Amino acid sequence: MCGIVGYNGGLDAKEILLKGLEKLEYRGYDSAGIAVRNEEGVTVFKEKGRIADLRASVNLNVSADIGIGHTRWATHGVPNKLNAHPHQSTSGRFTLVHNGVIENYHLLQKAYLKGIQMQSDTDTEVIVQLVDLFAKEGLSTVEAFRKTLSLLHGSYALALLDQEDEDTIYVAKNKSPLLVGVGEGFNVVASDAMAMLQVTDQFIELRDKEVVLVHKDKVEITTLDGRAVERKPFTAELDASDIEKGTYPHYMLKEMDEQPGVVRKIIQEYSNEAGELTIDDQILEAIKAADRLYIIAAGTSYHAGLVGKQYFEKLAGIPVEVHISSEFGYNMPLLSEKPLFIFITQSGETADSRQVLVKVKELNYPALTITNVPGSTLSREADYTLLLHAGPEIAVASTKAYVAQVAVLAIAAYVTGKSLGKGVVLDLKQELAIVANGIQTIVDSKDELEQIAEDYLKIARNAFFIGRNLDFCVSVEGALKLKEISYIQAEGFAGGELKHGTIALIEEGTPVFALATQEQVALNIRGNVKEVVARGANACIISMEGLNEEGDRLVIPKVHTLLTPLVAVVPLQLISYYAALHRRCDVDKPRNLAKSVTVE
Ligand code: G6P
Repeated sequence: MCGIVGYNGGLDAKEILLKGLEKLEYRGYDSAGIAVRNEEGVTVFKEKGRIADLRASVNLNVSADIGIGHTRWATHGVPNKLNAHPHQSTSGRFTLVHNGVIENYHLLQKAYLKGIQMQSDTDTEVIVQLVDLFAKEGLSTVEAFRKTLSLLHGSYALALLDQEDEDTIYVAKNKSPLLVGVGEGFNVVASDAMAMLQVTDQFIELRDKEVVLVHKDKVEITTLDGRAVERKPFTAELDASDIEKGTYPHYMLKEMDEQPGVVRKIIQEYSNEAGELTIDDQILEAIKAADRLYIIAAGTSYHAGLVGKQYFEKLAGIPVEVHISSEFGYNMPLLSEKPLFIFITQSGETADSRQVLVKVKELNYPALTITNVPGSTLSREADYTLLLHAGPEIAVASTKAYVAQVAVLAIAAYVTGKSLGKGVVLDLKQELAIVANGIQTIVDSKDELEQIAEDYLKIARNAFFIGRNLDFCVSVEGALKLKEISYIQAEGFAGGELKHGTIALIEEGTPVFALATQEQVALNIRGNVKEVVARGANACIISMEGLNEEGDRLVIPKVHTLLTPLVAVVPLQLISYYAALHRRCDVDKPRNLAKSVTVE
């Protein structure tokens, strides 16, 4: 989704900004721009399309040491050059980039900006025009900025340049992520630390509604009403090489290959000195104190939550509800007496999930975030955090983060169950090690998976994924992967539901992927396969060793029944990947999608 960068220092701003935007490309965007300031004023370059298009349009002769940049994922106004950021006030004095959504922009426009001819369809332009208006009325830039911020309803991360000020980027945020990075003789702004790791690993967190002046040699943070705030930088523990593709053609392929290592790392991170799996005591007590867990998540993380529900119920005996965050916030179910909310989010920034967290905190309920990004908004604002330790996930379609989420949920449920004396019999540590090996076997079978993609999906218009019990949870994730990156219309559902509607869609050659890893229902799912094959479906059975039968297209290595989602999802990820390649889709940056969805 939208990304922001800013640079104020001694070097060539435009190159640093462009490099920063390239690092944010993975988040999804449809246009981009930069603005740089020198003695001649502010120059804006913007383009629809990729950063490469923007780079090609930048005049290399313009040299400047201060500037801001943006990748835009369209919300208000179509993706075109006019609506791309940065936006300027009519006078040209102020230039702004913005992430988020201003809910009252129409009202503000009517109340304050009647005489002004807007140049774009965006909510952002209203902000920059307001700053200009208040400055014309005699306020200093910082006062005009403050006054504007006090009028805004909605979410924003902002970076503003003033043509008349050679040494300041004016910065503020509300509900959208934004960091200030500090260096020797320069300072930077970034919506994601990754964008500026090229120049610094020292970042300062910003709180909602603070007003921050980023100069070359200092950063001034104040509250909205002007009180000074002192805050030390933290070190971003990201290895710049983690975010490189290396020799891989796509991040998604790299990230799928990293999955065995991610499971092993999680085992290590969640083991105590005695070598036993463990979680933080306070978190354990919070889970044990709850009479019901409410898992809140979106997309792939929601699918991991479906698996997590089974873990907590089966291993720890605690009832669990799993909710889609965008639904929960506006239609809250009746809550139990002692709920614990568990937010699952790879990025820790998903606005749909965050709005639930804000409500949960208003109601004074405890919240735990399971995320891959330490210091992310949902991690900071929850009472507790469990980290995924998956390393940065760049491809929009989530793979290793899903596996990490399921593994961490298994550990949390297992440790809770043991502590509650639930007579948990499995040796989870040992079983997870077997899972890591099982995943390795699958990622080493790429030729076979590429062939499956070709055989079943090369000319498919749609596809179905069926499973029962835990296989059902995986089938919905398999369908999502295929939709996201290959644009094949796909649906995942419970095998038993076929005859209640979906079977009407089965035609000659319709691809149906059936998972058979759950012993209890293996025969039932095979019965469902017979039903679709009888109607012409091209069925691909993916079973597990021990449950396999002749004719199964793929047999995954045997793992503990509860842990099959960790392994069964991997062939579905790879099949989706190869299907997308066959169709020449942009695997890492699928159309219309964003990695981190920071608007509701
Ligand atoms: C976006 C991404 C999905 C992701 C979802 C939730 O829609 O494209 O891949 O599953 O957000 O993201 P989160 O960071 O909260 O897990």
